[in-house]
Amino acid sequence: MTRTSATRIAVRASGGRDYEVVIGSGLLDHVGVEAREAAPGVRHWVVIADHTVDELYGDRVSRSFGASDVSVRRLTFPAGERHKTRDTWASLTDRLLDLAVGRDGGIVALGGGVAGDLAGFVAATYMRGIPVVQVPTSIVAMVDSAVGGKTGVDTPLGKNLVGAFHAPARVVVDPATVETLPRAQRSEGLAEAAKHGAIIDDGYAREIRLHAGALLDGRPSVVEPVVRRSIEIKAEVVSQDEREGGLREVLNFGHTLGHAFEAASDYRLPHGHAVAVGMVCEARLGESLGLTAPGTADELRTLLEALELPVAPPAGWDPASVLGFVQADKKVRDGKARVVLLECMGRVAPAAPGWAHPVAPNVMRELLDSA
Ligand code: NAD
Ligand code: GLY
Repeated sequence: MTRTSATRIAVRASGGRDYEVVIGSGLLDHVGVEAREAAPGVRHWVVIADHTVDELYGDRVSRSFGASDVSVRRLTFPAGERHKTRDTWASLTDRLLDLAVGRDGGIVALGGGVAGDLAGFVAATYMRGIPVVQVPTSIVAMVDSAVGGKTGVDTPLGKNLVGAFHAPARVVVDPATVETLPRAQRSEGLAEAAKHGAIIDDGYAREIRLHAGALLDGRPSVVEPVVRRSIEIKAEVVSQDEREGGLREVLNFGHTLGHAFEAASDYRLPHGHAVAVGMVCEARLGESLGLTAPGTADELRTLLEALELPVAPPAGWDPASVLGFVQADKKVRDGKARVVLLECMGRVAPAAPGWAHPVAPNVMRELLDSA
């Protein structure tokens, strides 16, 4: 792969901060060139990754800057969602201060969604904001978190409660890195790709189902076009609505109930599994309300099963507890949850106004009792 044969997708962002997502196997060796081109004012680059990803790819990314007139340093943190905290943010920020990185600094966020959100939030806040180049290495990060500018950390009260919008200067995606990703992580990431098919492109959903085995095996020739199509979809949505004032809501399909299942399990249910179950339940909800074409939930279930994802709530779950989390969601209005519903596979049912439908607690409870 040469840099020039990579795919480039333009993303619109507010304040003249439009950026490019560049996609191609082997691009890890070109991160330095891409970063310098996107943020020419940066003199001191700092690559932030978790220990696992740093070990695998940190050297390669640092070397990609070549023997140039910019400095490149590496900072790491322990892998895992439980380290996406204000403490880790503070530690990384203090280490940047120790390194005397100033306003001419820039961050490379290398890794999964945790590194992307955390390092992105460091970049959003350090010296009131320095450039970040997102280099996603998990499927979740490639198809979802690296594009769109949402950054942040978790707190004991919930996920992503403290954060900022900070558009990346560039996103550099090397789908070959998926080869080292554990199969369970690939499966989780593919839940978000399936969501893109379900909300916007039925044909894409069918492609994912057809190639599910090869995708789970991480075969690069199959992973790359899927990652590219998902990024095209996400880029199109966030270009139209960066701050989630309207269309970006459609990306929440499966997430109202998914987040509630995840929280009710005390975060033992992996996010991708929670979203898969949430999508099936929300499709059934749409069918019961007469908004979603009959058979859509079954179609979705078949797709998710092919991706080795669960399609029913975990054993021992408590509908009352899940309902409690649904009703505590920050998007609840007048006591009603707001849920994105499908018209059919590949199309979201418009609400008036917007894209999320108000659902009364008794209707939600009925759905949960029958799940
Ligand atoms: P993660 O970053 O913890 O990565 C999962 C695991 O895979 C980690 O152990 C990591 O070290 C490892 N890993 C990553 N890439 C690897 C590779 N190529 N080879 C081997 N191991 C690799 O989690 P994730 O699933 O990537 O992302 C989840 C996070 O993303 C959550 O915090 C979620 O809130 C966030 N997210 C953010 C957005 C957004 O818009 N900002 C969207 C979706 C998800
Ligand atoms: N992951 C949903 C969003 O980026 O808005």
